[in-house]
Amino acid sequence: MTATIIDGKQVAADIRAELKAEVASLKAKGIVPGLGVILVGDDPASNSYVTAKERTCEELGIYSDDNRLPAETSQDELMALIGKMNADPKINGILVQLPLPKHMNESEVLFAINPDKDVDGFHPVSVGKMVVGEKAFLSCTPHGVLHLLIRSGVKIDGAHVVIVGRSNIVGKPLANMLIQKSPTGNATVTVCHTRTKDLACHTRQADILVAAAGRPNTITADMVKDGAVVIDVGVNRIEDAGKKSGYRLVGDVDFEAVKEKASLITPVPGGVGPMTITMLMVNTVLSAKRAAG
Ligand code: GUN
Repeated sequence: MTATIIDGKQVAADIRAELKAEVASLKAKGIVPGLGVILVGDDPASNSYVTAKERTCEELGIYSDDNRLPAETSQDELMALIGKMNADPKINGILVQLPLPKHMNESEVLFAINPDKDVDGFHPVSVGKMVVGEKAFLSCTPHGVLHLLIRSGVKIDGAHVVIVGRSNIVGKPLANMLIQKSPTGNATVTVCHTRTKDLACHTRQADILVAAAGRPNTITADMVKDGAVVIDVGVNRIEDAGKKSGYRLVGDVDFEAVKEKASLITPVPGGVGPMTITMLMVNTVLSAKRAAG
């Protein structure tokens, strides 16, 4: 079987077109969604993610308050800026780009964000609400994976989903979203990680296999059941002297071999990646609507 490629760029573009129209109709009612963006330090990958987030705000008509702070910024200064954004009615969502410099305590910083503006879905209140099935901002990458599956017509209800990776950003929240009692949940979920014995024995059981391990070639063709849906969340930089940048991006899946076995598969780049920013925009617009009552 040769897989159909899930075009994340197209799905993201479709959602953005819907959002752009929604932002325009909110504007007509005097509501302008606003996103506060904070980047501390000059990590190149974070820098390019933040630039992409700012550009997407502009494209959709969302106001963005962009703050790029030096790596030496103290945690108190960062907390003060978050406090200001918490109190600013023009800001509906606050995004603190991770990772933060080593001298900062990430959980203290995330805890300082008003949960009503936690469009990243990383605040413990958001995470807790999501786990118990209450309305909350869903974190963007797993929410993006969910939408890719739904918009590709994949049946989640009753499926066995195997997730490789247990991060707070992807594996853990995605597992919780997929087991919710709901038509877009009701999956049976197995979460594998670096201490899992015989990884392939688990991955071969998957109707839907999600790779979020952060390591190239974690998933090879022999680890995939015929006809499985394969979602690759990995973003790994591989040295490539032929590229102007000196690197190319690959996922966690051996794409060329696995696409001959899967029924549907996401590429890297152009799969899950474009969905992450799009879901951030979805959450920001949702927050603006909630704030307006
Ligand atoms: N770093 C890597 N992914 C993310 C994300 O989704 N949000 C934030 N704030 N930082 C990240």
